[in-house]
Amino acid sequence: MALIPTTDAGSGEVPLTKKILLGVSGGVAAYKSAEIVRRLRDLSVDVTVCPTASALKFVGEPTWAALSGNPIVVDMWQRTHEVTHVSTARTPDAILVAPASADLMARVAAGRADDVLSAILLMARCPIVMAPAMHTEMWLHPATQQNVTALRARGVLVLEPDSGRLTGPDSGPGRLPAPESLADIAVLAATDKAQDLAGLRIVVSAGGTREALDPVRWIGNRSSGRMGYAIAAAAVARGAHVTVVAANVELADVAGATTVAVGSHAQLAAAMASAIADADVVLMAAAVADYSSQAQAEKIKKPDLSTPLTLELAPTSDILRSIVAARSGRRPYIVGFAAETSATQLQALAEQKLLAKGCDAIVANDVTGGAVFADYDTSAVVVTAAGLVSAIPHQSKLSAAHAILDIVQAERS
Ligand code: CTP
Repeated sequence: MALIPTTDAGSGEVPLTKKILLGVSGGVAAYKSAEIVRRLRDLSVDVTVCPTASALKFVGEPTWAALSGNPIVVDMWQRTHEVTHVSTARTPDAILVAPASADLMARVAAGRADDVLSAILLMARCPIVMAPAMHTEMWLHPATQQNVTALRARGVLVLEPDSGRLTGPDSGPGRLPAPESLADIAVLAATDKAQDLAGLRIVVSAGGTREALDPVRWIGNRSSGRMGYAIAAAAVARGAHVTVVAANVELADVAGATTVAVGSHAQLAAAMASAIADADVVLMAAAVADYSSQAQAEKIKKPDLSTPLTLELAPTSDILRSIVAARSGRRPYIVGFAAETSATQLQALAEQKLLAKGCDAIVANDVTGGAVFADYDTSAVVVTAAGLVSAIPHQSKLSAAHAILDIVQAERS
């Protein structure tokens, strides 16, 4: 599932005029570039595809041309009067290379310009995102890792590949992340946010914990994880190293972030404890169970329907408070979230929660009647320990994520 709905593009959230160049290099994952083009088009992005000669062995020119509605850029000797690599490099708001092969990254890291895509990448001054995809051995080879380090040092956002099934029966790191997530990251890179979070380590919890009652039942809550994932995607696009601790989230992993999947409160607490060891910012967007039960080994049977069922639930620990208590000094900057059912008292409740939790900021939203859950949009009020009160009016969770990160960044510096 994706982070930005098609309708966002029409609501003015994602500018209609953005232009993205999609570079495709040679690898089996090139077939997924067709889905990326479709997704970018759904977001009303003007997309032009520039495949390498090897990519053209995997996918034919008509596929990209038809899906993008634009002629593809294939060699230096097309439209020579326009000097193709120069005009093409100056046009886009961002360039996404997906998949980025080991060879393409090696050539770009070395500053070569021996085909039209590498020449464009040498010319371009817009944000560049690369999504590597290759076999694990090639990805982990020191030569590739050195090239990735060199590209990142020059400001290229080189995403970590996903782990999982590769072309053959083998599996490991090297998979191309989900196409819709790559398209979202490229759109974010094309907006005006600079790489202002470059190098920051950000940990975001998302989703909702589930406490097992027996092998088939659990107590949980209605958080979809969309807000936490939007924050993670926005932070990746702004250059941060992001870890997402995801409690029962059914969305595609955020491209470029490390995702740790958890289920229960206890698993979330343990995953957070290890993820935050070196964190600069922690955002606790997950809805955490306040009570859990001793899960029964056998399915609970109903004696008869006239007898009420009484469950005994024990309180859980407050993970946010533990993180606050464990920090020394002002690092990490810690943000809590509050889902409340009072529009009129929202700010007051947020201020109370800020004091109770001892964190640096609380993002509170009104969920009366189930509003916000699983929605693409949200509204919130942010209160901070430094005394800031900031309203985030109704907007997409992605742009709300940017607003929250703007506050975090302003208060940290
Ligand atoms: N939180 C947590 N551990 C818990 C409960 C909540 O870390 N056991 C975190 C949530 O991730 C969120 C913040 O605390 O960032 C506020 O969660 P919320 O459920 O609104 O607050 P509670 O402390 O549970 O208070 P109440 O439900 O009474 O409003």
